[in-house]
Amino acid sequence: MRRLSRKVGVVGLGYVGPPVALAFGKLGALAVGFDIDVSRVEELPLYFDRTLEATEAELRSLDMNVSANADDLRAADFFIVTVPTPIDAANQPDMSTVFAASRTVGKALKKGDIVVYESTVYPGATEEDCVPILERESGLKCGVDIYVGYSPERINPGDLEHRLESINKVVSGQDARTLEIVADVYGEVVTAGIHKAPSIRVAEAAKVIENTQRDLNIALINELALVFRPLDIDTSDVLAAAGTKWNFLKFTPGLVGGHCIGVDPYYLTHRAEREGYHPQVFLAGRRVNDQMGAWVARECVNRPARASVPER
Ligand SMILES: NC(=O)c1ccc[n+]([C@@H]2O[C@H](COP(=O)([O-])OP(=O)(O)OC[C@H]3O[C@@H](n4cnc5c(N)ncnc54)[C@H](O)[C@@H]3O)[C@@H](O)[C@H]2O)c1
Repeated sequence: MRRLSRKVGVVGLGYVGPPVALAFGKLGALAVGFDIDVSRVEELPLYFDRTLEATEAELRSLDMNVSANADDLRAADFFIVTVPTPIDAANQPDMSTVFAASRTVGKALKKGDIVVYESTVYPGATEEDCVPILERESGLKCGVDIYVGYSPERINPGDLEHRLESINKVVSGQDARTLEIVADVYGEVVTAGIHKAPSIRVAEAAKVIENTQRDLNIALINELALVFRPLDIDTSDVLAAAGTKWNFLKFTPGLVGGHCIGVDPYYLTHRAEREGYHPQVFLAGRRVNDQMGAWVARECVNRPARASVPER
C-alpha cells in the first residue's frame, strides 16, 4: 500500500543503494534505482546482489525498477545519491563521482524536487560544491525551485543486526520545510528513529567525525598492542583489567579497513586545511592503523616458528 506521495530515485547501486531502493520499493515509492554500471542493473533484476546486502528473497519480493538510462530518473521527485567517495593517491577526497552524479541528477530535476546526498562528504560539500552543479545542469534555483538535504548512511556491510531500518537516521535539509519532508520520507522506512540535524553541515560533519573518532580509538588500542607484545604483556588482559573502570572505552586491537573508517579522517582533514587549520590529531590514527595489516602478517609468520622452538 502506497503511503508516500514522493517518488524516490536512488543514484548509485553499490553497497548502500540497493537497501535504500528496496526499502522504498516495499512502500511502492521507488521510481527507479539508477547506476552507470550496466552489469549492476542487469544482475539485480535476476535477483543477484554481488554485495550480498540484499538477499535473493528480498529482491524476489518486489519488482525493483533499475536502469542505466539517466532519462528514467525524470520519473523521480526525491533523489537519493549513494555513489562512492574514495580518496585519491594523495589521500585527498575524490568527489568526481558525486559531481558526476550531481550532473546526471541536475538534468532530471523539475520544480519542487529534492536531492538528498547520502554519500560521505566533508562538511560543506553539499551546499558549496554540489548545489552549483545541480543549479547549472537544471537551470533551476536551489531554495526556490529545487531543494537539497543530507542524510549520512551508517550501514555496515555484512552486519545483519544494523540495517537501514534499524539504525537511527540523521537527516537534514537546507530549510525547515525541506527538513520536515526529508524526515517524513525517511521516517516511512526507518523504524529506529529520525534525528533532525539543524543544518546540512552538521549532518555532514556528524558522519565524518563518527568514523574519525572510531579510527583514533582503535589506533590507540592498536598502538598499545604493538608496545605490549615485546613487553610480553597480553593486551586483552590489560583491556579486561582497565575495562573494569566505569568510564574506560571498550575498543579492541584489529584491522581497520572498508569504505569509511580509513577514508573519512582524510575528508575531515581536507576541509580543515581548506580553512587554514592543520589538524594534529585527526590523521594520527591512520599512521598506526595503516601498518597493522603488515604487523598481523609478520605475527602470523613468526608465531609458528616460535611455537616450534622446543621448551627447555
Ligand atoms: N559501504 C559501506 O559500508 C558504507 C557505509 C556507510 C556509508 N558509505 C558511503 O556511501 C557511499 C556509497 O558507498 P558504497 O559502498 O555503496 O559504494 P560502492 O562503490 O559500493 O557503489 C557505488 C555505486 O555507484 C555507482 N556509480 C558510480 N558513479 C556513478 C554515477 N555517476 N551515477 C550513478 N551511479 C554511479 C557505481 O557503479 C557503484 O555501483 C560512499 O560515500 C560511502 O562512503 C558506505
